[in-house]
Amino acid sequence: MKKASVHRKEHFNAAHRLHNPLLTDEENRELYGKCNNPNFHGHNYELVVKVTGPIDEKTGYVADTKILSNIIKEHVTDRFDHKNLNLDVEEFKTLNPTTENVAVVIYETLRGKLPAELDLKIYLYETERNFVEYPA
Ligand code: NI
Repeated sequence: MKKASVHRKEHFNAAHRLHNPLLTDEENRELYGKCNNPNFHGHNYELVVKVTGPIDEKTGYVADTKILSNIIKEHVTDRFDHKNLNLDVEEFKTLNPTTENVAVVIYETLRGKLPAELDLKIYLYETERNFVEYPA
């Protein structure tokens, strides 16, 4: 059986603040720089969802990108887009919304919605130059 990877690219805009309550305000400013701004700030996130699996003989697909897109939209981008991640998204009320942690939350959200035989990988771009791959 031949395997292939299918990538679906999505986009969302969201605000966040990086802050660790266990550190002092000064340590937080030093560690997170502008991302520690008390009144939040926004990013244009680019999300690439990669699924790998066998090419189905009947459909010729690994995954139907329309279905994949709908799953991402319903469970991720509709929940994150134009939101304040810290205040509006349950998972980040107690989790610092670094690019790494946002990628983990997206992975865990989608993992349960996709067929188990598909391998899943998340690429999340916080800026054009900075992106995270999860799992590593
Ligand atoms: Ni930031």
